[in-house]
Amino acid sequence: MYAYVRRLLFGLDPERAHHLGLGAARLAQAVTPALVDPLFEYEHARLRQTVWGLDLPNPVGLAAGFDKNARLIPFWKHVGFGFAEVGSVSARRSKGNPRPRAFRLPEDRALINRMGLNNDGAERIARRLRKVVGANGAKSPLPLGINLAKTHDPAIMGEAAVEDFRQSFRLLAPMAGYIALNISCPNTAEGKTFEDPDALDALLAALFAERKAMGLLVPILLKLSPPETEKVVYDSRVEEIVAIGRAHGVHGYIATNTASDRQGLRTDAARLKAIGPGGLSGAPLAPRATRLLRYLYRLTEGRVPLIGVGGIASAQDAYERLRSGATLVQLYTGLVYEGPGLVKRIKEGLVRLLEQDGYGAVRDIIGLDA
Ligand SMILES: Cc1cc2nc3c(=O)[nH]c(=O)nc-3n(C[C@H](O)[C@H](O)[C@H](O)COP(=O)(O)O)c2cc1C
Repeated sequence: MYAYVRRLLFGLDPERAHHLGLGAARLAQAVTPALVDPLFEYEHARLRQTVWGLDLPNPVGLAAGFDKNARLIPFWKHVGFGFAEVGSVSARRSKGNPRPRAFRLPEDRALINRMGLNNDGAERIARRLRKVVGANGAKSPLPLGINLAKTHDPAIMGEAAVEDFRQSFRLLAPMAGYIALNISCPNTAEGKTFEDPDALDALLAALFAERKAMGLLVPILLKLSPPETEKVVYDSRVEEIVAIGRAHGVHGYIATNTASDRQGLRTDAARLKAIGPGGLSGAPLAPRATRLLRYLYRLTEGRVPLIGVGGIASAQDAYERLRSGATLVQLYTGLVYEGPGLVKRIKEGLVRLLEQDGYGAVRDIIGLDA
């Protein structure tokens, strides 16, 4: 079925196809949830976990960037996700980079995007969210991550950048099951500023102080860039980030965001040149994302939950990612190529793989291969 839909969507510019897909999903969410549910329903006790105090029916989540403006939260539940991460949201609204800014690489089962953090801004999104999840998030149809990024404006730097994050945090954290800090956006000039140790230290100090002042217990996670190569033996950047994270009590890490380089692609060089800069996602990212996950798991000694993301497009991929140290996984590019039925296929496949290998539950395999 999705093969036909995909043929239609892949005939359009990727961003138009995305908006068309989101429009159809909004319609389904409003009109026909009773028709959507039976297609995607699948629950199994082996998939359940409690993470950061959140009850998660399964470990498969929606990655940031797909629902930047938090318009489809009920739909993600209908499709069978265990949790969804909306955003990135920035304090001020932003149109992002000029179009075209999203490209398909079908030969590589990959995407390149340079969206540039387009979103409606924290205030509007907070208003929208309050209606769906309630002022303290208690009404959310599924566990909700909210991903925050700095407003796309190179003039906002230093203390102003910290203040920018703080504003979004103040508005959105009360409704979040967890907050993810996107410090690894490759698509704005200053999107990785906070991977610098001093800047990260200042950001975490400010947000943890805000969290305390607001009397919130919301977990704070960091989303990291992929390593430059698959062969990470020692990465001083990651060591420093995790040391700072540990000092502030960061509750988890998300590995990884998209990659700026073009290593190992089948797509021809002329096409890549014509596309230009942007973050690479999908299958080519998988080995590096897995590698970083294993590294992070060892570095954190399995003490904080990790979310594995990057090139997951099957149950086997998800299973390997959990074995490599992920407590949860997320999907973006896999959904574009495989359609929403992928979520159920992954859940069914995970249960099959657990049974086949003699494990009782997802929690029994986390980090086995790290
Ligand atoms: C079009 C597009 C937009 C994205 N926007 C964001 C974003 O706003 N914030 C963020 O943290 N990650 C964003 N991402 C990164 C994804 O969340 C994910 O980390 C990355 O795509 C790797 O996963 P995948 O291979 O399953 O796509 C975006 C990815 C794509 C393809």
